[in-house]
Amino acid sequence: MSVEPVTLQKLPTDLSVNRLPKHVAVIMDGNGRWAKNQGKPRIIGHQKGVDALKDLLRCCKDWGVPALTAYAFSTENWGRPSTEVQFLMTLFERVLRRELEEMKEENVKIRFVGNLAGLPDSLRQEIDRSMEDTKNNLGIQFTVATNYGGRQEIIQACKAIAAQVKQGDIEPEQINEELFEQHLYTHGIPNPDLLIRTSGEMRISNFLLWQMAYSEIYVTPTLWPDFDRVEFHKALATYQQRDRRFGKV
Ligand code: IPE
Ligand code: IPE
Ligand code: MG
Repeated sequence: MSVEPVTLQKLPTDLSVNRLPKHVAVIMDGNGRWAKNQGKPRIIGHQKGVDALKDLLRCCKDWGVPALTAYAFSTENWGRPSTEVQFLMTLFERVLRRELEEMKEENVKIRFVGNLAGLPDSLRQEIDRSMEDTKNNLGIQFTVATNYGGRQEIIQACKAIAAQVKQGDIEPEQINEELFEQHLYTHGIPNPDLLIRTSGEMRISNFLLWQMAYSEIYVTPTLWPDFDRVEFHKALATYQQRDRRFGKV
């Protein structure tokens, strides 16, 4: 483990505490390329990626960012070789089992979003347990998008609303943004103020399509396993320079 520079344990002084994002979302990309650069198999990159996520979560807590959402596995990622997919599912399960006690101690409220029914049963059990055990925690809100696809999320919300209309519970005229949001997986979680994508790719890859309508986007060429507090500092400094107009002048 590397020793954290003392200055980065606390919010860097050039950042304004009043202008921190209330919710940061990350597309943790580049694990495979990171491993390849080291001449190692892709799975080693995924393992290193877990460490980077753990420290980012702790950093958010240390610096006062109240919500973090991480994209761990997309609905499209099933298209990868089955050995990699299996490795990832086992990794998620193992990490969750290993980290749950610490997350409880640190007052983390963990939530998983995505089509959770499509995940292996044993992973589902760990997910359910972690959400149940941390549901009353009031510290950082940590959301993990697993088997998540923005389009799939929107479709399932449409189906739920259509069923309500068919039942006669609501009229089509009552459908508005607020009602729609109640049917999204992210219900109760604020929309992200800042989206960070590592590995230089300038796309959102089916992540939080509805929720990111007004998120600030920050892309860094750094590969996810190398994303550390120095990198997060840069992202936040850039964010604080943005002029968020929300369509106004
Ligand atoms: C992101 O890293 C992790 C997941 C999608 C699970 P990648 O595995 O996509 O790494 P690259 O993009 O191939 O380098
Ligand atoms: C996005 O990364 C999904 C996750 C980080 C979980 P991908 O590597 O799957 O995205 P693409 O294929 O480059 O768009
Ligand atoms: Mg990738």
